Amino acid sequence: MPSQTQPRTRARYIARPRHYLMCRPTHFTVSYRINPWMVPAKPTDTALAVLQWERLYELYRELGHTVELIEPEPGLPDMVYSANGATVVDDRVLVASFRHTERAAEGPAYRTWFEQRGYPVVHTASHTNEGEGDFLVAGDRILAGTGFRTDLAAHAEAERVLGRPVVGLTLVDPRFYHLDTALAVLDDDEIMYYPAAFSPESRRTLRELYPNAVIATDADAEVFGLNAVSDGRHVLLSPQAGGLADQLAERGFEPIGVDLSELLKGGGSVKCCTLELRHPVPGGTR
Ligand code: ARG
Repeated sequence: MPSQTQPRTRARYIARPRHYLMCRPTHFTVSYRINPWMVPAKPTDTALAVLQWERLYELYRELGHTVELIEPEPGLPDMVYSANGATVVDDRVLVASFRHTERAAEGPAYRTWFEQRGYPVVHTASHTNEGEGDFLVAGDRILAGTGFRTDLAAHAEAERVLGRPVVGLTLVDPRFYHLDTALAVLDDDEIMYYPAAFSPESRRTLRELYPNAVIATDADAEVFGLNAVSDGRHVLLSPQAGGLADQLAERGFEPIGVDLSELLKGGGSVKCCTLELRHPVPGGTR
């Protein structure tokens, strides 16, 4: 009889309970085009988007995470991509200032949510800043994207407001217009990314900081495999990103495929629909 007590390979990955903010895609559709994935002429199925989103929401809860909700507003079809609403570090909130007028009203909506929860520092970015779409907290540092959406000047502002060093990275491929479409944080010191989405200088920076990173192929990046959320052990990502799932499993992570095909039509997947709150919500559920 094979022993049942064999140690698991690389059991070092431990999930940490997380706190997320999500927005139901009640008003989701693609009615304008601000990234190459959005094709307004292509029909969207809002009911299916809601069903797929609810699966993600339930999955987080089954994994032991806390999920807060913000009320979706009519006329803001992209509000489902809550990652863009802000960047939260400790109890400090840096609220997004969107590049495109179509999304501008989302900033105040997210701001109100945080103010009502009693966060002590709620600062609206004075430079174009698309929240966790372009700012990814990785341990003690923040990786920040620029090139398509977030302004370079927003990086210094984030460093000041959030109190963590920011490493700036330049995106060069319009398919990967937000940092979170080209790079995902797996653990405090582990990431996965698609090198060709970055400028040569940024590629060098990433190689130096993360010599052991998981490297994505174009095929896995193209299906939004990098738009993933990790709790330190479980990595939720597009089920089409098979190559990434294999690499993650090989390292001892647990990849979990989540089909968000409708939300892909707006140019987003798992991470875009998930804003991480790194501080128990003041007066909240924890
Ligand atoms: N349609 C949205 C936009 O182009 C998608 C945002 C995706 N969000 C993200 N965190 N990458 O702004």
